[in-house]
Amino acid sequence: MSNPFKTIATWVNERMQLQSSIGPIMSHRVPLRARWFYVFGSATLTCFLMQILTGILLSTVYVPSAGEAYQSLEYLNYVQPLGWYLRALHAFFGNAMVFMLLCHLVQVVIFASYKYPRELTWVFGVVLFLCVLAMAFSGQILRWDQDAYWGLGIGASMAGRIPILGPYVVHLMLGGPIIGGETLSRFFALHVFVLPLTIAGVIFIHVMLVLKNGISDPPRSGVVVNPKTEREDYKKRISGDEGTTFFPTPIARDAIFSGGLVIVVALLAAMLGPTGPNGIPDPTIIDTSPKPDIWFMFLFSSLALLPPAIETFLILTAPAVLILALFSVPFLSNSGQRHISKRPVTALLLIFIFTVYFVLTWLGYQ
Ligand code: HEM
Repeated sequence: MSNPFKTIATWVNERMQLQSSIGPIMSHRVPLRARWFYVFGSATLTCFLMQILTGILLSTVYVPSAGEAYQSLEYLNYVQPLGWYLRALHAFFGNAMVFMLLCHLVQVVIFASYKYPRELTWVFGVVLFLCVLAMAFSGQILRWDQDAYWGLGIGASMAGRIPILGPYVVHLMLGGPIIGGETLSRFFALHVFVLPLTIAGVIFIHVMLVLKNGISDPPRSGVVVNPKTEREDYKKRISGDEGTTFFPTPIARDAIFSGGLVIVVALLAAMLGPTGPNGIPDPTIIDTSPKPDIWFMFLFSSLALLPPAIETFLILTAPAVLILALFSVPFLSNSGQRHISKRPVTALLLIFIFTVYFVLTWLGYQ
């Protein structure tokens, strides 16, 4: 008696040619020494998929209109069976996605995996970074509470300072001169359609580039990247016992880590519950202390600490300079040493950036 599942699988594979598309991915070689350091990219991807799933479920109840958004979230919190848990899952997977993405970014910088031939993988990675931050910001706006209202107000007042273009950027952002119903529709479209589709498309290109160039091997002190010979050197470095196929062990490692992450996030969501909404958005209530979500707290405190004289200049230039610096990393150094012990400037810069980030975030909560 032949196995019916095998028969169906053969029938489907014959028509979808799955083996010829998935086969090469499963059999592509990865460095044997690439252990648990390389799980953060796929963990970020897993969080993204959980966000799509919980987001679709939320959108079946959430009403994206200024008059009903707040009430629909209260309905989820207190009336809809497990509505509070769905909201908590979406919030925690959102935070987990940003956290995993930061771990991925730091791992890539420490291993200098942005050097030749992975410069473009980095560039598309930076696009993903900006899109994921935009998801976190627009997600907070959809809570449509006091925090969202004042967060938007601060965002619009910053954008309004852009010379000449300011009023147009504000109008584009708010859907009018002031925060209103149109504003919520715009951020809903951004959060539910524009950004997820962009992220999905860029992840596809990003992972395709990873498969084309191969996953970088963990750096060894003294081994340098020479763009003229790197492709051959890399093949030699992961040949024989130094390499293995992506299936079964490396993919199992990704699955175990991502599976564990999903369980931890699901437990945290059950224990800590959803965030907000914190009070109906009301511009007449000025005696309020709105706070952004954790990822933007450093911005909040740096704005509070900036001397007024240079505030506008820094608000207009700092974001552009930081984004440009991120994009230019692989073009400033795409060859040479990769081991962090040989790259003291990178090490010090990473420590400095994260120290400033954590101190400003902590200050924001004070
Ligand atoms: C939604 C966000 C992202 C997803 C889903 C994602 C996914 C992945 C995956 C699955 C890999 C393969 C292996 C691994 O996990 O390390 C990878 C590699 C890589 N990613 Fe990302 N990534 C994201 C964001 C970023 C960001 C923000 C950067 C840098 C700014 C970046 C730079 C890279 C580089 C350079 C590699 C090649 C690593 C190597 O060959 O060792 N990625 N990414």
